[in-house]
Amino acid sequence: MQNKIDQYTSEINSFNSSNAQELETFRIRFLGTKGIIKDLFEEFKTVSADDKRVYGKVLNEFKQLAESKYHEVKELIDSMVSDTPESKIDLTLPGDGMELGSRHPLSLVRKEIVEIFKKLGFNVAEGPEIEDDWHNFSALNFPEEHPARDMQDTFFIKKDKENGDTALRTHTSSVQVRMMEAGQPPFRAIMPGRVYRNEAISARAHCFFHQVEGLYIDENVSFADLKQTLFYFVQELFGEGTKVRFRPSYFPFTEPSAEMDISCTICKGDGCQFCKHSGWVEILGCGMVDPNVLDNCKIDSQKFTGYAFGMGIERITNLKYQIKDLRLFSENDVRFLKQFQSELI
Ligand code: PHE
Repeated sequence: MQNKIDQYTSEINSFNSSNAQELETFRIRFLGTKGIIKDLFEEFKTVSADDKRVYGKVLNEFKQLAESKYHEVKELIDSMVSDTPESKIDLTLPGDGMELGSRHPLSLVRKEIVEIFKKLGFNVAEGPEIEDDWHNFSALNFPEEHPARDMQDTFFIKKDKENGDTALRTHTSSVQVRMMEAGQPPFRAIMPGRVYRNEAISARAHCFFHQVEGLYIDENVSFADLKQTLFYFVQELFGEGTKVRFRPSYFPFTEPSAEMDISCTICKGDGCQFCKHSGWVEILGCGMVDPNVLDNCKIDSQKFTGYAFGMGIERITNLKYQIKDLRLFSENDVRFLKQFQSELI
């Protein structure tokens, strides 16, 4: 026993390391639950009573030696770690400036639109971009054979004759349905979001774009309310004096339906290339919610009436900033994006 202890003592005395892993190996070897010291104490139990008196002391000293060596080396290693350059960072130094990005023009315009309608008491709602046939078409009174359901326009995800198709929504009008199904009037909300159509990408068309839908349903809502709301909206967004006009149109989910034009913001109505020399540009579709749609959404069409409208954010952004190519919106060219600043952050 004495021999072993002498041998281990010199091993411990000569141990030195700056490596935490080596120190750990040392600890396990001597001080671990299955280590040398544990073994020696086991052996100690078997020696004679006389020997016990001698070895008791020797063994305890040996254990203390191993422990103090361990702590000594550990302290050294710890002090080296906290001496690394990282730990000597001067926290009082000024930091590197972080360059702020700018908002995407479509986000800026969406925000502006939302803010205007919020002032009129509209809530903001959203719905899923992957829609079923019911919410995108059927509930909105699209006849079965309506061309908008055609593969030409819609990105179908799953064709399913029995349970209805799944597709990327082609307009935000699907959110109207979700809103009406979820409760009872009055509803007064706008619904911004991205929509998808299967179109060849060019300067004037893209396979995805953004819309803001509006819906107002209550007792005695009339076309006059619709006109006044949209008139106010246009004055706020494009400035006082901007003219509006409504042209009769057709949408399956509104009756009567209209398209709204505003006086061209670029030539102020004199006629230019942008408005094709007409002095007017179309900015949205609208109308009185068709009673069939109300019935589909379990809303009493005898009691309630309402209006809906939907506008393309890209189109309005083009008008505000005179951007001629839609593709710029999704190319993420910083030189383009950096140009748009707004007080609305
Ligand atoms: N959903 C129509 C479109 O995408 C716009 C619209 C919305 C028209 C609401 C009338 C009422 O063209």
